[in-house]
Amino acid sequence: MAAQQSDQFKRVIAHCKEYGFIYQSSEIYDGLSAVYDYGPYGVELKNNIKQYWWKAMVQMHDNIVGLDAAIFMDPQTWKASGHVDAFNDPLIDNKDSKKRYRADVLIEDYMEKIEKKINKEVVKAQKRFGDAFDENQFRETNQRVLANQAKFDAVRDRLAKAMTDGNMAELKTMIEEYDIACPESGSRNWTEVRQFNLMFSTQLGNIAGEAGKLYLRPETAQGIFVNFLNVQKTTRQKLPFGIAQIGKAFRNEIVARQFIFRMREFEQMEMQFFVAPGEEMKWYEYWKEVRMKWHKALGTPDEKLRFHDHDNLAHYANAAVDVQFEFPFGFKELEGIHSRTDFDLSEHQKLSGRKLQYFDPEKQESYVPYVVETSIGCDRMFLTVISQALQEEVVPDAKGNDSTRTVMKIHPALAPVKCAVLPLLKNREELTSKAKELFNELRFAFNCQYDEKDAIGRRYRRQDAIGTPYCITIDFDTLEDNTVTIRDRDTLQQERIPIDKIEGIVKEKVSMKALLMD
Ligand code: GAP
Repeated sequence: MAAQQSDQFKRVIAHCKEYGFIYQSSEIYDGLSAVYDYGPYGVELKNNIKQYWWKAMVQMHDNIVGLDAAIFMDPQTWKASGHVDAFNDPLIDNKDSKKRYRADVLIEDYMEKIEKKINKEVVKAQKRFGDAFDENQFRETNQRVLANQAKFDAVRDRLAKAMTDGNMAELKTMIEEYDIACPESGSRNWTEVRQFNLMFSTQLGNIAGEAGKLYLRPETAQGIFVNFLNVQKTTRQKLPFGIAQIGKAFRNEIVARQFIFRMREFEQMEMQFFVAPGEEMKWYEYWKEVRMKWHKALGTPDEKLRFHDHDNLAHYANAAVDVQFEFPFGFKELEGIHSRTDFDLSEHQKLSGRKLQYFDPEKQESYVPYVVETSIGCDRMFLTVISQALQEEVVPDAKGNDSTRTVMKIHPALAPVKCAVLPLLKNREELTSKAKELFNELRFAFNCQYDEKDAIGRRYRRQDAIGTPYCITIDFDTLEDNTVTIRDRDTLQQERIPIDKIEGIVKEKVSMKALLMD
């Protein structure tokens, strides 16, 4: 199973490069690790994901407005937010392999091995007992499973406590006690564990030394917090209301693997929802539900998405949950929903000396609002979409024989190219001119491609591989009766349709309206 999953992941990475979705940054210089560039189809898909989020979060809510704050902020911002002091990962080096790891990730990998042992027992028993197998009962009674589960729980609790306490010595003790070896070399020759701040810094041009030190923002949220009163006053919003933003964030990640899952430069789509103190848990539950619906509207099966409560809370949160997706390498965080209390606004208020309070006309009092945040990585959402979409299928070819096709079953509203216009033959001017005429009309309505090169079957395959939901073919009948065929990427059904109906039909099928109404 694990091998199959990693094969699928390799296929996704190779496909992204081959078809112009994603390239390694600075590849000609051997590539900059954990930094990626989006190619022609990648940028279209990414823009559509952003548009889906923006429409759903901002344009469909009367009480949410948008913002585009700068990446650079006054460095005091990061002192107030706690990032200078607490935005750290526990780092450990292996003295023999010279490889650097996150100590908590090494322990999490160890926990994953215990979990795998449990699952192996379950699968074995399932095979042995067949239909009569009761998984819950087995998990509650089998001695080996119970022993491993107890071990797993103990490691998890110990890790959570060490992380909450910032106890680096305890992390090192755990690595030694559990006999964790370097995954590269097998060596157990470790350094001490130390805190490593994840913020990138740079220098202002006109101020030397520490005073001119600037940070590249590690989250977009702070741009929203420092603008809270500007936005509230200029839009005259009443609580509860939200401010949403899409933008780049930067983190000097220690463990930078798994393609675009963990990058050093990435994009976030964040929304801070300001509420009256005491109302935060109600809104926390509300946003959990709304965000899960947003994911499921794309057709993601229920079993591929789940909530996972945080074992250890960030310095600003009193409740936090991840929306996890089953990536090809297992269930991992896709989005975070955090109840951030009044921490950020209060800290900015203290450090800046400026009031960041809301006057509540009903209560006739001023207070610092509480905040519920939804925060999703655009790149992680991209990986979610493509890792589900990429499929290999056996389908009949033009002669009715079995052939394998690679297809990206991306939701039509997110697909980079919505429809391709294909003349049946390249060397018949009456077909190509008719096709170009249609293409030049349709491109005003949605992203469209014209392709006349190679046999029609190969052209269909090319469009399947980039996820184009509809192909329109202009053939000799078109010249007679002004009808064309429209081919559906997923069902492979072809229908004959009057040419003047095509724009309306495709427009409806690729529209975000249905997605948003879901
Ligand atoms: N403002 C809250 C915040 O930044 P987070 O859990 O650290 O919370 C939110 O990040 C989301 O940003 C994550 O759920 C993930 O989707 C994305 N993200 C975080 N670090 C990332 C990285 N290094 N590469 C890609 N996406 C990342």
